[in-house]
Amino acid sequence: MKKILVTGGLGYIGSHTVVELQNEGYEVVIIDNLSNTTIDVLDKITSITGIKPAFEEIDLKNKEAVKHFFKYYDVDGVIHFAASKAVGESVHEPLKYYENNITTLTYVLQEMVDNSVSNFIFSSSCTVYGQADELPITESAPTKPAESPYGATKKMGEIIIEDTSKATDLKAIALRYFNPIGAHETAKIGELPIGVPQNLIPYVVQTAAGIRECLSIFGDDYDTVDGTAVRDYIHVVDLAKAHIAALNRLLNGENKANCEYFNIGTGTGSSVLEVVNTFEKATGKKVNYKIVDRREGDITAAYANTDLANNELGWKAKLNLETALASAWKWQENQ
Ligand code: UFG
Repeated sequence: MKKILVTGGLGYIGSHTVVELQNEGYEVVIIDNLSNTTIDVLDKITSITGIKPAFEEIDLKNKEAVKHFFKYYDVDGVIHFAASKAVGESVHEPLKYYENNITTLTYVLQEMVDNSVSNFIFSSSCTVYGQADELPITESAPTKPAESPYGATKKMGEIIIEDTSKATDLKAIALRYFNPIGAHETAKIGELPIGVPQNLIPYVVQTAAGIRECLSIFGDDYDTVDGTAVRDYIHVVDLAKAHIAALNRLLNGENKANCEYFNIGTGTGSSVLEVVNTFEKATGKKVNYKIVDRREGDITAAYANTDLANNELGWKAKLNLETALASAWKWQENQ
């Protein structure tokens, strides 16, 4: 049985990926510092799969602790989710983002290299493309200057990994996520609401639940189908499965370069208004909204060309927007 380290494995995307790894017969060990989640996610994972993953409460900023971990655990691969992800916060606290997302990445990679662990999956983001010149976005689209320190950490992370893969035996895949949404069908794990949501779907869901009065839609004068901004919303369970496909590729030696990049999206763009309408249709719940000014740093439209992931990883998103939004609502109701 292959043993996989999942950093940030109690977080939103991490927890869903742990479930899929266990479903595929992998043994999982989780590292999490519980900075943006709670320990009961471990029990929720266990109640879904029937298997309790090993868990170490470690802060990856603690270099000695990371070193100890790799001495003690013999792992076959690492899926690295642990990172801070609030775009707005990163603008005000850039050093927190460089330390949490970059320093920790170098520690994990160093221990992998020192302990001859060669298979690495990295959480990257479509943010590396900025506003792409052509849609849908292919992996060969040029990367653009980052709009925030958060975005910069994803770009830099890719560079650090690529450089390491050139100099060592590291084999890596960076998955460039589009917009992950939704929750597990059991509604036992999902995105934990902490404070006022910054992302669209948690805000929509909380508005429908009466926790927020009104959704502010940021701009209706974009050059899109209805003037609101367009994104590629991907169900978190589909996204989790992309990690298994990427991991299998590395473990089976099917990779064609030491560092590869794949877009992980559905290939379909949806406007903010389309999301609101689809949510109302999927749940029968009304969402109050008003149109306000554009949000600084937002792009007009982003959606993925997923041919490379489809052909090379043998992975394709299967769940549609309506299913994803219904799962997000079920998760909210279960809170
Ligand atoms: N939006 C609203 N109202 C809200 C929240 C969002 O209208 O209250 C709109 C945004 O303007 C945007 C769309 O809904 O047009 C999606 O916004 P999100 O904040 O959910 O997602 P983003 O596309 O802005 O951000 C995502 C990830 C980031 C990543 C970024 C760029 O959350 O981690 O994509 O790739 F950096």
